[in-house]
Amino acid sequence: MAMQLESVVPFGRSLDEYIKIFDLTDGDLQKSILSVGDGPASFNAEGTKLGYQIKSIDPLYIFAADRIRNRFYQVVDNIIEQVERTPGDWMWTYHGSPNGLRKRREQATEIFCADYEDGKNQGRYEIGELPQLKYRDCEYELGLSSHFLFLYSDHLDRNFHLDSILEMLRVCQEVRIFPLLTLMLQRSPHLQVIIEHLEGKGYKCEIRKVEYELQRGGNEMLRITKNEA
Ligand SMILES: C[S@@+](CC[C@H](N)C(=O)[O-])C[C@H]1O[C@@H](n2cnc3c(N)ncnc32)[C@H](O)[C@@H]1O
Repeated sequence: MAMQLESVVPFGRSLDEYIKIFDLTDGDLQKSILSVGDGPASFNAEGTKLGYQIKSIDPLYIFAADRIRNRFYQVVDNIIEQVERTPGDWMWTYHGSPNGLRKRREQATEIFCADYEDGKNQGRYEIGELPQLKYRDCEYELGLSSHFLFLYSDHLDRNFHLDSILEMLRVCQEVRIFPLLTLMLQRSPHLQVIIEHLEGKGYKCEIRKVEYELQRGGNEMLRITKNEA
């Protein structure tokens, strides 16, 4: 079914946030990267300027930049108010305050929108959605999912997660997923079963503590490698 923009909350993170979220080293950033569900993150725009090879995919990319930007400004006040109403749910070590968070999200959206047309023409932003990817086996060295898999576990079931992660592993030599919490700040109910399934298939799964934490307790990333890596 075609995506309805009215049902989307287009919130995007920066390159610096992705580096911290995924514990990316200089070596990781030299890899060919497929970043899935990238929305209006500025990871691709900022990374491309530094010479990194990043492809971002998202069903949101059927829309033009001005529609994505307008949707962001329609929802941002409400989201920040929700954050302010739930002070116990958030850690402010990175963003400082709800206002700092808002500023960073605005900045990421603006950087993304300014880069979007060029990026689309260069094939850096492509329309695409899990659980199926159109890319070849092992086409990418590193696959990333930020704030999509596991976060929406209350809406997307275990089979969707398993199919999506296996598909990312078909296309990417290594996959990293953050966060491992749901929107309700619970560890995803799918996580353990999925790890057991993947280990049964010979993948190595590591839950790594990372420096980034906005959702309270949300400072863990899942790294999945094929066993020889
Ligand atoms: C909360 S945003 C995260 C954006 C970005 N990854 C970040 O962390 O800044 C979640 C994104 O997932 C995208 N999405 C929704 N359904 C998807 C699917 N089936 N496959 C891939 N991405 C999807 C949404 O359009 C949205 O842009």
